[in-house]
Amino acid sequence: MIPVKRLRHLALAAIDPERQLAYYRDVIGLAEVGRADGRIFLASEAGQLAIVIEKGPAPGLARLAFDLPPDQDLATIERALRDAGLPAERCADPAPGCPVALRSRDRDGRALELHAGIHCHDNRQPLPGIGPLKLGHVACYAPDPATIARCYTETLGFRVSDWIEDRFVFLRCSHEHHTVNFTRGPDARMHHMAFELRDAAHMHRAADILGGQKVPILWGPVRHGPGHNVAMYHRDPEGNAIELFYGLDCMTDEALGFWDPRPWHRDRPQRPKTWVGLPRDVWGLPPSQAFLEMHRLQLPEERH
Ligand SMILES: [Fe+2]
Repeated sequence: MIPVKRLRHLALAAIDPERQLAYYRDVIGLAEVGRADGRIFLASEAGQLAIVIEKGPAPGLARLAFDLPPDQDLATIERALRDAGLPAERCADPAPGCPVALRSRDRDGRALELHAGIHCHDNRQPLPGIGPLKLGHVACYAPDPATIARCYTETLGFRVSDWIEDRFVFLRCSHEHHTVNFTRGPDARMHHMAFELRDAAHMHRAADILGGQKVPILWGPVRHGPGHNVAMYHRDPEGNAIELFYGLDCMTDEALGFWDPRPWHRDRPQRPKTWVGLPRDVWGLPPSQAFLEMHRLQLPEERH
């Protein structure tokens, strides 16, 4: 089992990298911390790499990068990937301050990058924009959610947190409810990326910043059922869906087997489960027509 510990960053293909850079820097509030080989590296105020922008033929997910334990021997991981039938190759200088990583692909062909070692950026100047704590999770379409869930649990060390019926799976690699999730769709493209905010005041500030920039809010704030995060959705200039969230469920101790108790939990205790039927959200209005159209690849009953 490969011990993936956390989401490190997301590489985003962009038709117009400079326009995307302006958005992720000035609206989302990330700092440009380096450029190399056509890639632009953006880190959070806390100094964690979050987004890598690189030119591509179409907007969307280029790679998902995950952290392994800092002292992890990469040769062991290479063998484990190959034993699982997945590719493994070393990649030099994948990010500033990072001399080597492993490149692989999951069962759907998504490009993965696995890093060992700690690399923080010392960008301590105040940043404009929303200023998220970190990149929190990435959701993707998957032709067969059960198959891709097995790939992540059996090979990459993830645990299943929740299912929505048999079509949307939430997976964790830490105490946080989900780091990746997969919803049934025709291909492996990204559904949304999500940045974590501090609290309700930060969400309010984010809404004011989006409003000031004339960026429409497409859904939320809403408190979801699975994960119980308060979430708000919009799109970046190239159409990628972005969630801003706070208050995601945590499982402080895996041996307890339930999420830290919260007054808004439907079940007491709230354990990983399969959610069936509506409404799932604890509160909030349904998604806007614009949000539904953005995800028009989904079947009608898969829109929530
Ligand atoms: Fe999400």
